Amino acid sequence: MSLDDEKRLAAEAAAELVESGMTVGLGTGSTVAHLLPAVARRGLTDLRCVATSPATEAQAHSLGIPVEEFNALQRLDIAIDGTDEVTPDGWLIKGGGGAHLREKIVAAAADRFVVIADSTKPVERFTWPVPLELFAFGLASTLARLGEDVTLRPETPPSPDGGLIADYRGPGRDDPAALAARFEADPGIAAQGLFPPTLVSEIIVARGSEVERTTIG
Ligand code: 5RP
Repeated sequence: MSLDDEKRLAAEAAAELVESGMTVGLGTGSTVAHLLPAVARRGLTDLRCVATSPATEAQAHSLGIPVEEFNALQRLDIAIDGTDEVTPDGWLIKGGGGAHLREKIVAAAADRFVVIADSTKPVERFTWPVPLELFAFGLASTLARLGEDVTLRPETPPSPDGGLIADYRGPGRDDPAALAARFEADPGIAAQGLFPPTLVSEIIVARGSEVERTTIG
């Protein structure tokens, strides 16, 4: 089994959780790219979906999955998304694709937030950098305040919300709650990629041909 097969298996397991008539948040990334055809194949009716990125929205449209602006809906029945890393207690690092601002808004609006992952994503301790989305206004001052641990992604265009995508490679990832609080106290940071376990309902990890499910909250 390749990693791509694992992503597909986890995504297919999550697609089974979607039922006709649900409001659904669609994540972003290569794992979610397997979710959308699996949802489309189910032939469900009356779905109302929101997408966390233009790429997901385009793929959903191409598969006939209806996507609407995230204005009319107040709550989502379910949101399903990938992750860059997940710790045993359910903390996530997300934003490898730079979509973490919208991903977090969608996760927070969902009654059930389901994370789908291949077997490389569970870790004992975070190793990935923490993605940040920085407001364009005052960017130079924000970068100066955050220091050399934060670098802009040079090839990544601004997000659909106008923010600049950066990564934090400094200390503190062993205490994600403290690091998240530090980021959230900085007015120049629009979104940071640490997602707390309180946002997460369930994690579906594929290892080879096995699918493991962990309930978090
Ligand atoms: C995008 C994300 C993705 O969910 C995360 O990067 C995982 O991506 P993939 O499924 O391609 O491994 O947070 O911002």
